[in-house]
Amino acid sequence: MTDHRVSQDFFESKYQADSDPWRFADSPYERNRYAEIVNALSGHRFHRAFEPGCSIGALTELLAPVCDTVLAFDISPTAAARAQARCARFPGVTVRVGSLPADIPDGRFDLIVFSEIGYYFDRTTLVSLVTNLLTRLQPGGTLLAAHWLGSSPDHILSGDDVHECLSKALGPPPAETSQRFEGFRLDVWRRP
Ligand SMILES: C[S@@+](CC[C@H](N)C(=O)[O-])C[C@H]1O[C@@H](n2cnc3c(N)ncnc32)[C@H](O)[C@@H]1O
Repeated sequence: MTDHRVSQDFFESKYQADSDPWRFADSPYERNRYAEIVNALSGHRFHRAFEPGCSIGALTELLAPVCDTVLAFDISPTAAARAQARCARFPGVTVRVGSLPADIPDGRFDLIVFSEIGYYFDRTTLVSLVTNLLTRLQPGGTLLAAHWLGSSPDHILSGDDVHECLSKALGPPPAETSQRFEGFRLDVWRRP
């Protein structure tokens, strides 16, 4: 039986009840986390980025200026509609309703941003999902992961568990950058 914490209904009901359930748009913690994510991209410009689990598009709109195109999706139709509205001024941003692992888009990316979504999978599914994502990364492409280090009854895995699974699936070589900040960690892998 599907764990209710990973179902579309679970996330959709959060967005039906609250326009921004995690305060992505205005919490100082989230704004700082996003700034560190953009900072970790080291001023590079990307051609085609993929951001699964984009929520209301608060991170998407910060990725848009450093990417020619961003394909963002969320399992919640309400969240995806909000992200679409938030990013409407960026012609390179496409937002859809979509769910990992089933809806990984076709083609290759040079940036995949895996932020605060790994907790919603069990280890086996996560390793398989990320192994698949790696095949969608072009050589030299970047996969950036960032996850909160606290605990929540809504999560299947902790943030550290997620990054441990990612290390297993993506290395060797190990992450190019590994940083721990107050409350979250951030790792960047580059596909050889
Ligand atoms: C905690 S939020 C993170 C949002 C954003 N990535 C960020 O870092 O600000 C997790 C988001 O992932 C979405 N989500 C959860 N499981 C998903 C799945 N299997 N596929 C796509 N989106 C999913 C949820 O609806 C929610 O909007």
